[in-house]
Amino acid sequence: MSKLWSGRFTEETAKSVQDFTESISFDKRLWDEDIRGSIAHAMMLSEQGIIAKEEADEIITNLGAIGVELTWDEFKFDNAVEDIHMHIEAELINFCPETGKKLHTARSRNDQVALDIRLYLRDATDDVIKLIKIFQKTLIGISQANINTIMPGYTHMQRAQPVTLAHHLLAYVEMFERDKERYKDAYKRIDTLPLGACALAGTTLNINRESVAKQLKFKRISDNSIDAVSDRDFVIEFISNSSILMMHMSRMAEELVLWSTKEFSFIEISDAYTTGSSIMPQKKNPDVAELIRGKTGRVYGALVSILTTMKALPLAYNRDMQEDKEPLFDVIKTVKNVLIVINEMFKHIKFNKERMRKTAAEGFSLATDLAEYLVTKKMPFREAHEVTGNIVKYCVDKSMDLHELTIEEFKTFSDLIDNDIYSRLTVEASVKGRKSYGGTGEVEEQLIRIREKVDKNWTEE
Ligand code: ARG
Repeated sequence: MSKLWSGRFTEETAKSVQDFTESISFDKRLWDEDIRGSIAHAMMLSEQGIIAKEEADEIITNLGAIGVELTWDEFKFDNAVEDIHMHIEAELINFCPETGKKLHTARSRNDQVALDIRLYLRDATDDVIKLIKIFQKTLIGISQANINTIMPGYTHMQRAQPVTLAHHLLAYVEMFERDKERYKDAYKRIDTLPLGACALAGTTLNINRESVAKQLKFKRISDNSIDAVSDRDFVIEFISNSSILMMHMSRMAEELVLWSTKEFSFIEISDAYTTGSSIMPQKKNPDVAELIRGKTGRVYGALVSILTTMKALPLAYNRDMQEDKEPLFDVIKTVKNVLIVINEMFKHIKFNKERMRKTAAEGFSLATDLAEYLVTKKMPFREAHEVTGNIVKYCVDKSMDLHELTIEEFKTFSDLIDNDIYSRLTVEASVKGRKSYGGTGEVEEQLIRIREKVDKNWTEE
């Protein structure tokens, strides 16, 4: 087949080069964006009198027909035609040879590909934000039902202080809220029209970029044509935001893996969301959570890949930039799948509340409560810390828990301790008492606040 650039060439492209340089195998998914962009471009060309109205109509009708072929999977792809932009243009010329040849006026594949990715990423960003929100709502629902479910809070993976399951889960909801904000913020920069930059320098023809921006609902137009075709920072931002989201996901997934061990026994993930072992009949493995943890690696890999591709690239367009697409598409697919599956899985997790409560009470998790009790009796905190440390040491030696000491024993450590200490030494009192803003004792208020945040932040500006 003769190439769209055949004028300058006398020799055929080598087959190996065709196969090496093609991007159609992965950029074909941009067909809808490519057609939408071409339709807007053709309309503008006719509005500006660069092509006739009838010509634009013919182009648009035929682009519609090509869209139908692509929807119905009747479109033939060929590596010799390189990418989706050339495929659609070649087919258009095939359908209407005379007018078809006019579509690429005042346009280059360089601004065209930037446009297509931006259109694609706008939708992908919307999808991801929606999926995060759905997951947040699931977690908020579970938190609501577990305001009084007490579990050990950890630092250094050692039991630290009792918290509620709601408090723990809402910590993730807050993280996901920031993840959403990052995507929303990046959206503003994706939402810039590059078309009209042409190859890099703009055009001598009298185009109207505002009209194209309006048709394609872009908030802004790129101000510098070289920048418009050179940069992929909006792709990097999306993948970077996805990396942060996946980092959060992986922490959550890791906790699910840990919590479902016999050693923890905090949760049971339902059969539908676990897998068995081919050799050990007793096994029920948290593979979904493990894979979420694992897939974080490929998203980070994509980030390093695109950063490295773009590093030190001279302006403007370079073919290296074609390498942006596979990692990007992979990240979009991975992040969406992870959000869908983790949301479903969470609805099928049984929390072993008794076990959580029991472990929360062990390991002197109320020591800070005792120290703070002493502070309310006017003992300086450092001293209270020391006294409590001595009491804990005493208990360890005697294999006792704090609340098992008699008042006489307590008084050998400090006169300030009275009978009212006993009511403070329960996990319930500990949790309820931590009423400082954001603390585990005011989780009901937190729930109200995060609910509002999740709803408000979603309303379109
Ligand atoms: N397939 C190319 C890409 O993905 C499209 C732009 C090609 N432009 C060019 N001048 N070769 O980046």
